[in-house]
Amino acid sequence: MTNKLRTLEVADAPLFIGADSLAELAAQLSDKLKDRSPIFILTDKNTSQYCLPILLDQVPELKNACNLVVEAGEENKTIQTCETLWNQLALLGANRGSILINLGGGVISDMGGFVASTFHRGMSYINIPTTLMSMIDAAIGGKTGVDLASLKNMVGLISNPLGVYVWPEFLKTLPFRYLLSGYAEMMKHAIIADAHFWKKLTITPMAVITAWDDLIYRAAEIKCKIVSSDHHEKGPRRLLNFGHTIGHAFETYSLRKDSSPISHGEAVAMGMICASYISYRNCNLPLSQRDEIIRNVMLNFDHYNIETAAIEEILEITVYDKKNRNGKVIMTLIPEIGTAIHGQNVDISLIRESLFRYTDFRRYVIR
Ligand SMILES: NC(=O)c1ccc[n+]([C@@H]2O[C@H](COP(=O)([O-])OP(=O)(O)OC[C@H]3O[C@@H](n4cnc5c(N)ncnc54)[C@H](O)[C@@H]3O)[C@@H](O)[C@H]2O)c1
Repeated sequence: MTNKLRTLEVADAPLFIGADSLAELAAQLSDKLKDRSPIFILTDKNTSQYCLPILLDQVPELKNACNLVVEAGEENKTIQTCETLWNQLALLGANRGSILINLGGGVISDMGGFVASTFHRGMSYINIPTTLMSMIDAAIGGKTGVDLASLKNMVGLISNPLGVYVWPEFLKTLPFRYLLSGYAEMMKHAIIADAHFWKKLTITPMAVITAWDDLIYRAAEIKCKIVSSDHHEKGPRRLLNFGHTIGHAFETYSLRKDSSPISHGEAVAMGMICASYISYRNCNLPLSQRDEIIRNVMLNFDHYNIETAAIEEILEITVYDKKNRNGKVIMTLIPEIGTAIHGQNVDISLIRESLFRYTDFRRYVIR
């Protein structure tokens, strides 16, 4: 196996990573998948412009596929957009033998996976991720769904793609802000599972990284291993939620308040600051490692400023999060970089404290 095509597997779904991954898709469309039709390609307006022409060039077998285009952005990851897509699929004669190819970032793979899995009680889909976030996380593991008002991922199901084809070259046109967003999840994968990877990743600021392939492979490998051990999120898959409980609350808050909301990754980065503080207080995370995480997050991400008056609203959203039961906030925490534990009950007062500390961490940690 060369670096041009590496293979992983998650819940029986193969994942192909590297420069030859689209050639692999072409080969499968001419062989195993040759009788599947009609084929649809879901894009948003940006991936339609930047990625679809490349895909059609690399995989000529898709030249007769029908392109469905939606507006870009999290605000369109809604049941209303799904309804439009279900109507289009019905009008265009999609059936259970059809395949929907999701060409885009996490918004497209989350929503396209959900649309396909619910259409005709289950139509096949393939993910071709085009953002760093989707290459290492969103397109892997079969979590699909949409937001309900500003509540993230409230409607959805776990359903596996036929395969995932990761072609890192797509990152060349991805705006820096979204590359950074994916980098937050990459940092998280390292923090929860691999201290050596964390060191390698944080040796330079993200802005000067040019060789992504090996980093993508290692981050995807971590995700595949964790998901394979617990596909339906009864236990270890919750490790991946590090930084997400409070991160989702930041994201929801920003979607409600800001005309230009923070991205998912930016929110997770802020959530990791709070989760590291809580880990230091509840799980004996050494102070030096807590500050190392916070320093590295702040080196790469702008601090999302919140007024102290916003803390109660963010806290309320955190407590409402679907991962909380019986009024307790259940979080994934880290006793050290490279190891995580899920199912930790955290007092609401400690979360409040972490949010207060968050508002002035820049002053305390950046030296
Ligand atoms: N299902 C999961 O396990 C999982 C995991 C993590 C995140 N997510 C979800 O993923 C979503 C975020 O994903 P994202 O960060 O990829 O955002 P995104 O899908 O919104 O993409 C970011 C932006 O980049 C554009 N874009 C995508 N690829 C491009 C390319 N190659 N060139 C130019 N522009 C391009 C898109 O049009 C969009 O404007 C969130 O909805 C989050 O909830 C899901």
